[in-house]
Amino acid sequence: MIFYFSGTGNSRHAALSLAGESEQIINITDCFRQDQFEFGIQENEPLGFVCPVYFGALPLIVQEFVRKVRFSSIPAYIYGVFTCGSFSFLCEEMLRSLLSESGLKLSSAWAVRMVPNYVVMYEIVSDEEQNRILDDAEQILLKIRSEITARHANSTELSDEHRRIAEEMAPIYKEAVKTHKFWIDDTCIGCGTCAARCPVGAITMRDGYPSWNTSTCQHCMTCIRCGAVEYGATTHGRKRYTHPDLRKKKKHDHTTEACAAHPS
Ligand SMILES: Cc1cc2nc3c(=O)[nH]c(=O)nc-3n(C[C@H](O)[C@H](O)[C@H](O)COP(=O)(O)O)c2cc1C
Repeated sequence: MIFYFSGTGNSRHAALSLAGESEQIINITDCFRQDQFEFGIQENEPLGFVCPVYFGALPLIVQEFVRKVRFSSIPAYIYGVFTCGSFSFLCEEMLRSLLSESGLKLSSAWAVRMVPNYVVMYEIVSDEEQNRILDDAEQILLKIRSEITARHANSTELSDEHRRIAEEMAPIYKEAVKTHKFWIDDTCIGCGTCAARCPVGAITMRDGYPSWNTSTCQHCMTCIRCGAVEYGATTHGRKRYTHPDLRKKKKHDHTTEACAAHPS
């Protein structure tokens, strides 16, 4: 059983790549929508948590989920996979500590470098670089998958330097999820795609235009995939990132979620 959270598709892709045949893959946001936090688990079935790294930590929704989730029996092998642009910092430590609050033990954890999606802070790398990063990630995911099958115990020691950086980043995440810096430019046609795509329902359409809701936003960069959504003074004119799995459009499918004015 794999639980995942994903904004721009990297962690979703990782979860799908790690899953065994007929293994259940559950989107954490669906659990909140359906108010479902109790799950049956088979003896010896591996249990995975897959998510992006946000400011050196687990996304808030993942932290809340791990605190709430309960299982029919104690899973024998629990692992975390953190997709990131560079390092997973506090994620392994955080997941271990949150699980231990429910008497559960983290057996293994890995970081997987995928395309850095945080357009608020930097330019998104070129398409060629994205392909190179995602090809490398594919190899790492294959390796992790076989290590999960072998119930391997992987752990990365957190350096003092990374602990310091992560502690410095924590307040920035708290500020970022406040959403007040999101805005729309003149090209927004009020199509509602950003609201429909938001995994946590943090956007409502008011008078035909998106309005952000601070209490649920994860700052996941899903809404910003539309070129008409901006954040602060840095994103304007910057390319946006979406994992190739989510870019694919079905031929002749007029129900596609892409906005006609800003396909991403
Ligand atoms: C708000 C935010 C903060 C991020 N912080 C980090 C970070 O501290 N370290 C890192 O390596 N990558 C960081 N990233 C990059 C993402 O972790 C990375 O691109 C991830 O694979 C995105 O996963 P997703 O496509 O499933 O949402 C951050 C991205 C966002 C949106």
